[in-house]
Amino acid sequence: MTHDARAMLNAHAASVTQPYGPERSQVMSQAGFDAATAEISSWPGYAPTPLLSLDHLAQDLGLAKIFYKDERGRFGLGSFKALGGAYAVANVLRHQVEQAKGLTHVTSAQLLSGEFNDIIRAATVTCATDGNHGRSVAWGARLFGCQCVIYVHETVSQGRRDAIAHYGADVREVKGNYDDAVRHAATTAAAQGWTVVSDTSYPGYRDIPLDVMHGYGVMAVEIVQQMAKIEPPTHVFVQAGVGAFAGAVCADFWMQWGARRPRFVVVEPLQADCVYQSLQAGRQVAVGGALDTVMAGLACGEVSDLAWEILHGGVNVCVAVDDAYALDAMRILAQPKARDPAIVAGETGGVGLAALLAAREHPAVWNALGLDVNARVLLLGSEGDTDPVIYRQVVGRDAAEILA
Ligand SMILES: Cc1ncc(COP(=O)(O)O)c(C=O)c1O
Repeated sequence: MTHDARAMLNAHAASVTQPYGPERSQVMSQAGFDAATAEISSWPGYAPTPLLSLDHLAQDLGLAKIFYKDERGRFGLGSFKALGGAYAVANVLRHQVEQAKGLTHVTSAQLLSGEFNDIIRAATVTCATDGNHGRSVAWGARLFGCQCVIYVHETVSQGRRDAIAHYGADVREVKGNYDDAVRHAATTAAAQGWTVVSDTSYPGYRDIPLDVMHGYGVMAVEIVQQMAKIEPPTHVFVQAGVGAFAGAVCADFWMQWGARRPRFVVVEPLQADCVYQSLQAGRQVAVGGALDTVMAGLACGEVSDLAWEILHGGVNVCVAVDDAYALDAMRILAQPKARDPAIVAGETGGVGLAALLAAREHPAVWNALGLDVNARVLLLGSEGDTDPVIYRQVVGRDAAEILA
């Protein structure tokens, strides 16, 4: 396995003093984040996920601090994705109930009360997924009580399919890659009268993916609260598939921290670097082919329109790394230095650390990132062992042994 990596400064990045501004607020807004926070924090089982400090690892890598937001425990689903798809499902059902009953603001609590079950049970939501998004949509469908059909492409692991089916969804396979499954979900839904709850937007389809992104933002809202008494980080590393997660985090930090916001770093697999290629070209570029990477959540070839509207000015640096770094990161997080906490990160979860490991071995990447001994780096641990079988193959132990 090779350990290749490259980095690029975004020539279109906004200056640090440039405000978030009204144009971007048309896309992702403070009101959107506030509404998502109010609803999601009312759901059963809600609790902010931990923000950990990896001081010994930071010292080892020549940095002042490493913070790690650990999304493994999010609503028992294993990833931050629990926030987005399920929130969009709630909003789809809310709108259907409001329309049918002539009401103006139906809350999650009302949807959960059983009062509107006749309308909710007749609704079907669907999406394409490489694992975690479909799991969130399926969980949301079960939580609120509607029907659910999830499309997976050929390389989605059996463990991830089972995790979706566990929530009662009908899981169906589509030939081709993730983007083919996205198109298949859209055409089938149009024919059947179902609602597509996609995490990626495309021309004419924005409102639902926007809800997904505002749901993701709850994670960023928590981080800002968790760091309220300390200086914001100097760098944040966010892994990107279609870029919706990165777009949500970027927008929230920009609004909350303004000119104090961290340098925004997007990390992708070398084989599926659509944000990198798009920023380099100055326009959205599709990356084709099998998009073959162990970083399953990042195997996407096309940047979401909504994400692009935030990221084209919000990203400072793009890094693309080989799979080998993602696997190294999983093992290092599982076997920490000294008194750093042990962390269970899936193939897509430890990708921020993968970029740091790559930076240590590739001076061009280190320099592009502007890292030094004063850097206080925030990594987003976007998933835990969402496929426990793959996790054990990579790390050699399972989560329970690591966390014991
Ligand atoms: C664990 C995990 N992290 C990050 C991402 C990337 O999110 P996005 O596709 O919004 O860029 C995904 C997407 O599936 C994911 O599952």
